[in-house]
Amino acid sequence: MSTTPTPAAVEAILADVADPETGRPLTAMGQVVSVAADPAAIAVTVGLTTHSAIRWNTTRARIEEIVRAKFPDVGTVSVAVVPHDRPPTKLGQIGLEAKSVIAVGSGKGGVGKSTIAASIAIGLARAGSRVGLLDADVYGPSVPHLLGLTGRPQVESGKILPMTLDVGGNPLPVMSMGFLVPPGEAVVWRGPMLHGAITQMLRDTLWGPLDYLVIDMPPGTGDIALTLSQALPLSGAVVVCTPQDVALLDATKAIAMFRKVNIPVLGMVENMSFFVCPDTQKRYDIFGTGGAKRTAQELDIPFLGEVPLQIPIREHGDAGTTAANYDDPASRPYLEAICERLVGNLAATAAVRPPMPSLPVL
Ligand SMILES: Nc1ncnc2c1ncn2[C@@H]1O[C@H](COP(=O)(O)OP(=O)(O)OP(=O)(O)O)[C@@H](O)[C@H]1O
Ligand SMILES: [Mg+2]
Repeated sequence: MSTTPTPAAVEAILADVADPETGRPLTAMGQVVSVAADPAAIAVTVGLTTHSAIRWNTTRARIEEIVRAKFPDVGTVSVAVVPHDRPPTKLGQIGLEAKSVIAVGSGKGGVGKSTIAASIAIGLARAGSRVGLLDADVYGPSVPHLLGLTGRPQVESGKILPMTLDVGGNPLPVMSMGFLVPPGEAVVWRGPMLHGAITQMLRDTLWGPLDYLVIDMPPGTGDIALTLSQALPLSGAVVVCTPQDVALLDATKAIAMFRKVNIPVLGMVENMSFFVCPDTQKRYDIFGTGGAKRTAQELDIPFLGEVPLQIPIREHGDAGTTAANYDDPASRPYLEAICERLVGNLAATAAVRPPMPSLPVL
């Protein structure tokens, strides 16, 4: 015998659904907007934040599923999502208005950090989150080229106006040393200057309130990671690698480096995982296979997903149209899955967020 649906009974079920931003029950966060229930129909409206925009559909489906499971005889179940406003607080001494700051790094050069960092920023912005992208590769900034952005940022009342990419109608502010230094000009940076340049781009750029600031890290050393960790609390780092042993070894070093400066590692992405020949559809594991997943398991780090080696990804990178990878049905699912898992993991860690633990150094 199934229970008669009442608004109170439906609301009680919603206590088991986590807000996809904070990981805390929707009922505890004032996010149940309305519940109507009778034997013929159940209608639920919940408020979700733009931070979790990429997970709105899965949250809606989850609510429908558990309400249906509890009241199998009810005629219709409909779940609507409306925006719920929860502004970011100011982070660190620089007062950056952002909810999550995510650094994308690796130990090795050329594994696709900038491509993945840009793709994460674009994927989150496309879903409706407010995202900024900072190119922290001061020596070899490649984000302007990957996104096809040129020009010099204007300065207004002491703030730098970032360049902006239009991502499906959502603005993605982007800041890079590449906008400030003429292309092809060599810049010799000393340590303190490097520190100053990064801090200035973080602090003096008019980002506006952000859900996410994604930071594209340069390869190698810990200088910039240290500067970032001193400037503001980072939500964590995403480590990009290829399946090759040498890249995995470097990724392991990068993970140790992030932990050393107290930046939690949010997960690992395996780039250039495999190649499917467009002519024969045969799969080739050019750099080996499954190595990043294994390494992630060994290091007890979430695996966020893989991205195949695809000619269009390279072509879009060269042409400055990296955002168009999301229009390619062969690339899009891989990139979106990484964004979804990343946001899911952030909520899971936010729900149990202790004061930052002192992580063991590998
Ligand atoms: N999955 C992929 N398929 C095909 N080409 C890719 C893929 N990922 C990255 N590339 C290409 O590989 C090159 C290096 O990528 P990218 O600049 O993102 O690497 P990086 O790790 O940021 O390099 P650096 O260490 O110089 O900062 C670029 O030409 C890019 O277009
Ligand atoms: Mg790069």
